[in-house]
Amino acid sequence: MKRALLIMAAMAAISAPAMADEALAKSKNCMACHAVDKKLVGPAYKDVAKKYAGDAKAADMLAAKIVKGGSGVWGAIPMPANTQVNPAEAKKLATWVLSLK
Ligand code: HEC
Repeated sequence: MKRALLIMAAMAAISAPAMADEALAKSKNCMACHAVDKKLVGPAYKDVAKKYAGDAKAADMLAAKIVKGGSGVWGAIPMPANTQVNPAEAKKLATWVLSLK
């Protein structure tokens, strides 16, 4: 029993950062256009992670795109600039998106 509780506590500790980043995405309004595993206005974050899997430069490229917006990769709809996001937050969000599977 004690052991099971310890394992649960360890699992909560591991998943906590990912949850914090999802909360950041929610607070920055990203989830108005994106979902983790289905396409809304923008691509599903899991599809983004798949597309750039193994691309070492993807986090910086996506962080810049999150701040400035962009178009032409996923379809006809552009992503507007997200001026409420600073570069550090954008990098955090890009890293989180890329970590999704
Ligand atoms: C108004 C809707 C909208 C909002 C708000 C929005 N996005 Fe997007 N996002 C899009 C669309 C549309 C695309 C596809 C753009 C394209 O095809 O290049 C996209 C693309 C992306 C991509 C993939 C870019 C690429 O080049 O593959 C990432 C990562 C992303 N968004 C993250 C975010 C994050 C993080 C936020 C919050 C700060 C956010 N988005 C807010 C609509 C939105």
